[in-house]
Amino acid sequence: MKNLTTTSLRVRENQLWILDQQALPQQSDWLPCADVSALVDHIRTLRVRGAPLIGLSASLLLALLAEGGMPQPQLHQALKTLRESRPTAVNLMNNLDRMKVALEQSDFIPKLVNEALRLVDEDKALCASIADHGAGLVKPGSCLLTHCNTGGLATAGVGTALGVISRAYQQGNVQQVWVDETRPLLQGGRLTAWELGERGIPYQLICDSMAASLMALGKVDAIWVGADRIAANGDVANKIGTYSLAVLAKYHGIPFYVAAPHTTHDPHCPNGAAISIEQRDPHEVTGVSGSFGSVQWAPLNANVYNPAFDVTPAALISGWVLDVGVVMPEQVSEGIFQTSLK
Ligand code: MRU
Repeated sequence: MKNLTTTSLRVRENQLWILDQQALPQQSDWLPCADVSALVDHIRTLRVRGAPLIGLSASLLLALLAEGGMPQPQLHQALKTLRESRPTAVNLMNNLDRMKVALEQSDFIPKLVNEALRLVDEDKALCASIADHGAGLVKPGSCLLTHCNTGGLATAGVGTALGVISRAYQQGNVQQVWVDETRPLLQGGRLTAWELGERGIPYQLICDSMAASLMALGKVDAIWVGADRIAANGDVANKIGTYSLAVLAKYHGIPFYVAAPHTTHDPHCPNGAAISIEQRDPHEVTGVSGSFGSVQWAPLNANVYNPAFDVTPAALISGWVLDVGVVMPEQVSEGIFQTSLK
């Protein structure tokens, strides 16, 4: 396969490398990813994360394994194992469904390589279209709030919600960004803060619990988040803490936008209640760990509830900003998400 570089993925001499998103921003460590168990481990530990990026990394690895001589039956097993690595983000399943079609061809090696590379190129284009559509909704002088990380680290392109924010900033319409730190794994505090800094966009980092008081003070003009799955009724699964922001936005009369590629839409999932929500290790809540080491503050035997995602009901969403255009609430009521968007 030809060499390839995105913010957080590389292919060099037929080997996949991932930028360790647990080590950022203190360290930029590129980790090799030679087999399925390595990638599954990187995905489960969130060294590779973000709905689009998970799907792209799995597709690239599959293509590289095929080029390296792995036989078709083993590739089918590899695809199945990768598909099960994280349950909530549907981009992984959607990308691997396309890879499966390629794998079923007699000339599966070039077909898999072409499909994986096409998925990467498509994701860049999807991000650019989302940014185009979304930036038009940002009013001059806006202070925007975002949650988790939806930037170049989580995609092959400029990102989804963070892509919109970046484009609107380039157009002179963003005064500053409020960045939710995003407990428990701090994707906002570690990754979004880093990306906004790299892009030269002014931001202030806040603890998640500070968002309500900022809204009450009139300091948030709109909220922009990403998505891991959009159900047929418009409900959205995204990083834990998204739902509380949407409730707060409704109370304070603040627009709440979801930005995502059409690969995040799942017409087979009727509503948010049907979305599988990943439950994660209690240690993520009882303390914190990273390249700096780990700290535990709760009692060693503390009982913990740790869902990685929550569901925001469609009724709280002002607009779904997709690569195919902006979907408005009345279009959702008319059933736009009940069939495939492409
Ligand atoms: O657990 P993570 O860090 O993979 O969760 C990421 C999110 O919730 C993002 O908002 C979502 O995947 C969209 S990324 C463009």
